[in-house]
Amino acid sequence: GDEIHLPPVRFSFDGVFGTYDRASAQRGFQVYKEVCAACHAMRLISYRNLRELGLTEQQVAAIASQVQIQDGPNDEGQMFERPGRPSDRFRSPFPNDAAARAANNNSLPPDLSVITKARAGGAAYIYALMTGYSEPPAGVTVAEGMNYNQYFPGHQIAMAPPLNPDQVQFADGTPATVENMARDVATFLQWAAEPELEQRRGMGVKIILFLTVLAGLAYAVKRKIWADAH
Ligand code: HEM
Repeated sequence: GDEIHLPPVRFSFDGVFGTYDRASAQRGFQVYKEVCAACHAMRLISYRNLRELGLTEQQVAAIASQVQIQDGPNDEGQMFERPGRPSDRFRSPFPNDAAARAANNNSLPPDLSVITKARAGGAAYIYALMTGYSEPPAGVTVAEGMNYNQYFPGHQIAMAPPLNPDQVQFADGTPATVENMARDVATFLQWAAEPELEQRRGMGVKIILFLTVLAGLAYAVKRKIWADAH
């Protein structure tokens, strides 16, 4: 049929006890910053949020200061540019959607802040999309400016394959294969969309523990109260 099956991919945050692999998410941020950020905004995320991934205050300040942010108006009513601060949202690559489309063959690169929530399959879909480019099967023609991707609904996507081997260089020595970069950027985007996942799950586990103890107590009390009943 026409149904799309995602490749089997496992993440550290799968399952009830899953947590974010911080090193993977940090590498994923690097992939976003050096590759995806040329076209995709993440307007809901601030540089200071990266502290939650284990970056130091100094690292965050350095990353923020690398971008120029539009600010103003100042006392003279002028707009101006200044280096980014940790409290700034991620800088968008284009001033508006029209400019983004103009640079992308009239297709709009979506904001990636909550993309893992916005697409069926979530992080697994991001991984699949990154690794799903190929020549079209025999008999399928791809429209001008489009690319064949086996996991994109309709299979013709305006985004050219964004990841190529050794596109980035990871400081921790992780080989920059397309699969590794895809897993890392999917982990980063999952964290961006759901930074509270670990707390939410931790709370669930505590509630189950509490209810288990409570049930045991209730049973013990019942046994005691009804011990003499005949
Ligand atoms: C679409 C991710 C890099 C241009 C998308 C979508 C995702 C995505 C998740 C949405 C697909 C869907 O609608 O289901 C990424 C990631 C990147 C990256 C993780 C970095 C690794 C880029 C770059 C460009 C670009 C560098 C521009 C040169 C686009 C465009 C679309 C798109 C134009 C809309 C495609 C369409 O609707 O046909 N991207 N992207 N992306 N991306 Fe990227």
